[in-house]
Amino acid sequence: MKTIYLIGFMGTGKSTVGEMLSDKLFIPFMDTDQMVVDEYGPIAAIFREKGEETFRMHEAEMLKRTPESGCIVSTGGGIVERKENVEFMQRNGTVIHLNASMKEITSRLGDDPNRPLWGGDYRGKIRLYNRRKELYTEAADMTILTDDKQAQAITDEILSLQ
Ligand code: S3P
Repeated sequence: MKTIYLIGFMGTGKSTVGEMLSDKLFIPFMDTDQMVVDEYGPIAAIFREKGEETFRMHEAEMLKRTPESGCIVSTGGGIVERKENVEFMQRNGTVIHLNASMKEITSRLGDDPNRPLWGGDYRGKIRLYNRRKELYTEAADMTILTDDKQAQAITDEILSLQ
């Protein structure tokens, strides 16, 4: 089985769904954010001390470590910011976009200090959401709407598509 890459905005449930898929399919789970944390420390600290570009470099490095088959990979919301990341995922595996409305994301995330790009005013967040939405849609082989769905239902939907 080709590796499945889960992409989508912060708060769309990529990690939770990824772990569930991995359990159901008995294949390994990898999380690019967690890999960065394990190797370089907390994401908020990297953004604060080294800047976003450094984080993006670490993130791309971790993505390249993911295998082309037999794995579920949850990615950070900004993985699509780099074209080479998108090309890598498309070449390597199946790319699934977990989509959620801005309303749903706002209620799920609240004010999360661990997500450096989820700060500032609502207009900035909306702008990021709209710009990213296009990037996710373009990158993905399929999009799944996650509003009003529990992680288990999303997992089952993805399994039914395999
Ligand atoms: C980011 C999303 C985060 C994390 C970092 C940057 C983004 O991951 O990679 O804070 O640019 O959208 P999640 O999507 O898992 O929250």
